[in-house]
Amino acid sequence: MNQAPNDSPDTITIRQPDDWHVHLRDGDMLQAVAAFTARQFARAIVMPNLSPPVTDTASAAAYRDRILEVLEPESRFTPLMTCYLTDTADADEMAKGFESGVFTAAKLYPANATTNSAHGVTDIANIMPVLERMQELGMPLLVHGEVTSSDVDIFDREAAFIDQVLIKLVDRLPELKVVFEHITTADAAAFVDGAGPNIAATITPQHLHINRNAMFQGGLRPHAYCLPVAKRERHRLALRKAATSGSAKYFLGTDSAPHEMHAKESACGCAGIFNAPFALESYASVFDEEGALDKLEGFASVNGPNFYGLPLNEGTVTLERVNIIVPDQIEAGAAKLVPFHAGEELGWRIAG
Ligand code: NCD
Ligand code: ZN
Repeated sequence: MNQAPNDSPDTITIRQPDDWHVHLRDGDMLQAVAAFTARQFARAIVMPNLSPPVTDTASAAAYRDRILEVLEPESRFTPLMTCYLTDTADADEMAKGFESGVFTAAKLYPANATTNSAHGVTDIANIMPVLERMQELGMPLLVHGEVTSSDVDIFDREAAFIDQVLIKLVDRLPELKVVFEHITTADAAAFVDGAGPNIAATITPQHLHINRNAMFQGGLRPHAYCLPVAKRERHRLALRKAATSGSAKYFLGTDSAPHEMHAKESACGCAGIFNAPFALESYASVFDEEGALDKLEGFASVNGPNFYGLPLNEGTVTLERVNIIVPDQIEAGAAKLVPFHAGEELGWRIAG
């Protein structure tokens, strides 16, 4: 189905990329997974949905230190920290965290939308003063864009969020920088395309590779389950078009979300796909299949920093067209993890 065009190059060198959405966790899991992200990416937006969540400057600074501690001393990886918004978030604390360089952005989880979001925001009206301050500061709001009402079908929750929340928010705060995280629908891409330059989106590798059938292929497939859940094929195709379009509004955000194998393979399996080990290779294969390898650098390494107002990375990374087999399992420390593409072949690897 997804064949690479014959005339595409066999190596590609791009500016070093960043990951604008990752879950690095804490404790043993942090120890197990951090190096996979630090190996590929110069910087990453680290999501704050720990338990308890990262809601203030001091806990974000302490979390940043714990991330740096588990990396090799020669690692030059920079974690960019985020603040988890709750109903009681405080505008002054937010401003203090942003102005002191601890917080790069704040994350809006609608309460109970996903993993560790019980403390999330129950009504956006509750955080309006914080959002107004963020608009003044130029501090990006990162949005998990799903409504949570159980009477909205799970496959419609992203589209419903656009209508019920996002349109009103952008109307009310037209200058607020918003990243619509891990978009999964044609509706989300259409919204982003039609909005101003202060509205952007991240796209994960899994939503470019799989549609919702992947969760049910010959049986129930917990490792294809994440939130927002993969949608119909027409949505996947719209996301591939958006990611490879060359539009500056779309950038790389893996949403790598590790859960131990036993927690995924359970009667109530956790949402999240661990894609960090082969993330760049996974994106490269999509851009190759779309005949758009020339657009990979913009998506992976340029659009994100430009949106966030951060400098571009100086280093480069070279990918070469070599088949690799993704392992069935990755054992890291005490953790057993099943990576995205487990057991599959990918046509690209990082050189050197
Ligand atoms: C994430 C996690 O496990 O923290 N899970 C997921 O399916 N993406 C949370 C999130 O980003 O929704
Ligand atoms: Zn996430």
